[in-house]
Amino acid sequence: MGNVTVIGAQWGDEGKGKVIDWLADRADVVVRFQGGNNAGHTIVVGNNEYKFSLLPSGVVQGKLSIIGNGVVVDPWSLLDEIERVRGQGLTITPEILAVADNACLVLPLHRDLDAAREARAGAGRIGTTGRGIGPAYEDKVGRRAIRFCDLGDEAALESKISRLLAHHEPLRRGLDLPEVTPDALLAMLRQVAPKVAPYVRPAWRELDRAIRDNRQVLFEGAQAVMLDVDHGTYPFVTSSNTVAGQAAAGAGVGPSAAGFVLGIVKAYTTRVGEGPFPAELKDATGEKLGERGREFGTVTGRKRRCGWFDAVLVRQSVAIAGIDGIVLTKLDVLDGFETLKICVGYRLRGETIDYLPASLADQAAVEPVWEEIEGWSGQTHRARSWKDLPAAAVKYVRRIEELIGAQIAFVTTGPERADIIMMRDPFRG
Ligand code: GDP
Ligand code: IMO
Ligand code: MG
Repeated sequence: MGNVTVIGAQWGDEGKGKVIDWLADRADVVVRFQGGNNAGHTIVVGNNEYKFSLLPSGVVQGKLSIIGNGVVVDPWSLLDEIERVRGQGLTITPEILAVADNACLVLPLHRDLDAAREARAGAGRIGTTGRGIGPAYEDKVGRRAIRFCDLGDEAALESKISRLLAHHEPLRRGLDLPEVTPDALLAMLRQVAPKVAPYVRPAWRELDRAIRDNRQVLFEGAQAVMLDVDHGTYPFVTSSNTVAGQAAAGAGVGPSAAGFVLGIVKAYTTRVGEGPFPAELKDATGEKLGERGREFGTVTGRKRRCGWFDAVLVRQSVAIAGIDGIVLTKLDVLDGFETLKICVGYRLRGETIDYLPASLADQAAVEPVWEEIEGWSGQTHRARSWKDLPAAAVKYVRRIEELIGAQIAFVTTGPERADIIMMRDPFRG
């Protein structure tokens, strides 16, 4: 059996957490490789609803869970999350949780910068989650970030802090933010360091060992291909690469370790935050999708924008991220719609095109070309076998498969762990 990399193939919130929890049963290790606490992955098991932003979803099944070097980690948020899920009965110990010693920290000054920039941008804002993710990645590539391995080294920490603040102070002054003194930041880090220290270690070594021992690794993507900093709807994107290729760099393994790439897609489309969304429905149908799908953000509680399934977008994600198979989630949300639509092309200045162009102006100008497809009166909600699906639902799923050029490995039909129909085992390729 090989490894599996799970990524979002639209604009996030496709149901990655649920799929990872389901697959984690057969995995030995679950690894986050990018993003930070901008992610919100929901898992429903019986009466328990877990919401993870930093912890890999493998912790529900008690699997070794690694926060890889590619993740930017807010240590206070991590500790809060650990306490919260402990309160829900999960066991989080250093035996099952590792944080890469070379992962970079998200600090309060990153959140300040994120918020101040968004406030100043007004109508031009990105609609970030406000977690400081963009500024933290800027400091990472700017080579002035503080990493977990620095926390135990007082001398290094002091010089790193002065280097970091030399960059931030002029920015803060320009944005009317109060000064952060080196002493105040040092005190904060000294206070948090011993609390996170038990989890911090060279995560790549643990992964290397696991891979050599033929253990199954599940890579947990956050965000999605259309939010990728290179391939998404730039600048309305997050600040990391979200494609499957990042699994290797963000965990410290070779590219072949990523294994089977499983793209998660909703049976319709949603987006939270600003930016182009060709298949968006700003009408009663969009409202109905949002209500039926309970489309409110896990992290910020914001209402998600909704639209029909966009096959052009997903086909592009399949190609860019090398997706081997798809999970089609939330099919049950479409129960009871008389007719459904799928976006099968775009009209741009009188021409029909079959891809989303890179230019923001073009992305904003494209108009969807719709294909109408019959809805179903029966229920898919909680269906657990292919034969329980109404014929029209099967037709919808098959049409999507045809349009996006990837096979569907699972369909999900409800938030509960067991509301899933498996057609192909991704661990077996
Ligand atoms: P993620 O960020 O990709 O992990 O997705 P989120 O957890 O942010 O959002 C997905 C939401 O849909 C969660 O509230 C899930 O409990 C829920 N969900 C997942 N799969 C299904 C499904 O098949 N049907 C329904 N109705 N809800 C689902
Ligand atoms: P999961 O893993 C949906 C969006 C934000 C904003 C843009 C940039 O739950 O699918 P950021 O805070 O990252 O700088 O915000 O990206 N965004 C998400 N949208 N799901 C997510 O994660 C997201 N993480 C970031 O709304 O538009
Ligand atoms: Mg989410």
